Amino acid sequence: MPHTQFVHAFREAAPYIHYLRGKTLVIGIASSLLQGQTLASIAADLNLLAALGIKLVLVHGSDCQINELCKQAQISPHFHQHRRVTDTAVLTLAQQACGQVQFAFQAALSLGFAHSPQRTPRLRVATGNFIVAKPLGVLDGVDMDYTGQVRKLDCAAMADYLAQNAIVLLSPMGVSMSGQAYHLAMAEVAAAAAIQLQAEKLIFLTEWDGIFHQNNELAHELTAAQAHELLAETTPQSPILHAAVEALQHNVSRVQVLSGSLNGGLLRELFTREGVGTSIAPTPFMTVRAAQEFDIADIIALIRPLEERGVLVRRSREYLENHIHEFHVLENDRQIYGCVMLKQFADNADVAELACLVVSPNARDGGYGDLLLQHIISQTKILGKRRLFALTTHTSDWFAERGFQAACVDDLPPERALEYAESGRQSRVFVMDLSN
Ligand SMILES: CC(C)(COP(=O)(O)OP(=O)(O)OC[C@H]1O[C@@H](n2cnc3c(N)ncnc32)[C@H](O)[C@@H]1OP(=O)(O)O)[C@@H](O)C(=O)NCCC(=O)NCCS
Repeated sequence: MPHTQFVHAFREAAPYIHYLRGKTLVIGIASSLLQGQTLASIAADLNLLAALGIKLVLVHGSDCQINELCKQAQISPHFHQHRRVTDTAVLTLAQQACGQVQFAFQAALSLGFAHSPQRTPRLRVATGNFIVAKPLGVLDGVDMDYTGQVRKLDCAAMADYLAQNAIVLLSPMGVSMSGQAYHLAMAEVAAAAAIQLQAEKLIFLTEWDGIFHQNNELAHELTAAQAHELLAETTPQSPILHAAVEALQHNVSRVQVLSGSLNGGLLRELFTREGVGTSIAPTPFMTVRAAQEFDIADIIALIRPLEERGVLVRRSREYLENHIHEFHVLENDRQIYGCVMLKQFADNADVAELACLVVSPNARDGGYGDLLLQHIISQTKILGKRRLFALTTHTSDWFAERGFQAACVDDLPPERALEYAESGRQSRVFVMDLSN
């Protein structure tokens, strides 16, 4: 990889690493991924996440392995509503399959990072009786036998292990209060863990590229309501969708569904802006779009308090009406949460200026300032500009931390330098070089 690409990728990842450090991720992993090179590559990436200080709770599937054992024992598996019916014979095989998968997973996690010449610190993997189960009972007249559901989780014990930097590995098996074992659905266990541990994200590594719409198109983003609509039709994805909706309804803020066989997919999902697979959130996502005239009132409501404090230069309604085409707004569910302006100069076609960057106080610290900045950077590049200026009186560090360099007034286009002198604000001048 060329050095510049590496540096760019590493810088892009840095804010995400910072944001995820110390946070809990619950990751459900489909049974078909838990073997061979796929398992090795997933385990190496999980090692990397743990080394970055992310707390991991992993839930492995077991269906493929149970099916294989059923085949060897000449038992035909039975399913109802995509749930396995677990009779006594299948329960024995399920316990055997979970034991095998758990051991293989622990072995893979013990190998450390992929392609590392260094000895990596050995990961501690905690397993145990974290899940109390109860029977699913009779569904539509079908006795599900030893197919169970989560009754409760020992979150205190899991939190203790996570605090000691161990990874918690959960099998889809639980024991009832009376000591009876039950086979559980991986997705349900993962959702319960994410809800009860108040995880930052619930992630499913699956054999699919993500969640598909009814027309078989991959959904890149879904709201909880859209995910719920997809549940009207029962498909092999229904258990995952069900778990996602359940988690989002109980305050998990994001569910990601992606392919586990895509090499490094998990890293791309967590550490790049584009991500991969399907993101599901409780409400529609924040988007940045070009401002329209009907946004002017919202922009005024955002900027006036900051103008009064001298953070922003005063812009009249008339100015906004004449320059609205230079504004972009941050919108979620038809509400405006931020704005930014991209100015161009008649006397220097090579440069542009980012101005009037504001995120509403109730949406701050969520990365939206960064989202607006990234949007302006890509717009500036599309326009073919080589440098992006930002002038600020109160936010120097914020720009410096995002790759802007200090510059001087003489670097500005003449028209802008004159305006600077007339304003008397003595703003600091920053510039970002976009020529690479
Ligand atoms: C600057 C601003 C747009 C950032 O928006 P945001 O959505 O909160 O930004 P992000 O979530 O991407 O970044 C948040 C980080 O920036 C930091 N930050 C916020 N304002 C800052 C400032 N003035 N100086 C330095 N860092 C600042 C936060 O502390 C937070 O840091 P942390 O994650 O390390 O805790 C927002 O604070 C704002 O609207 N400020 C008032 C208007 C302003 O100053 N605009 C710039 C003039 S052009």
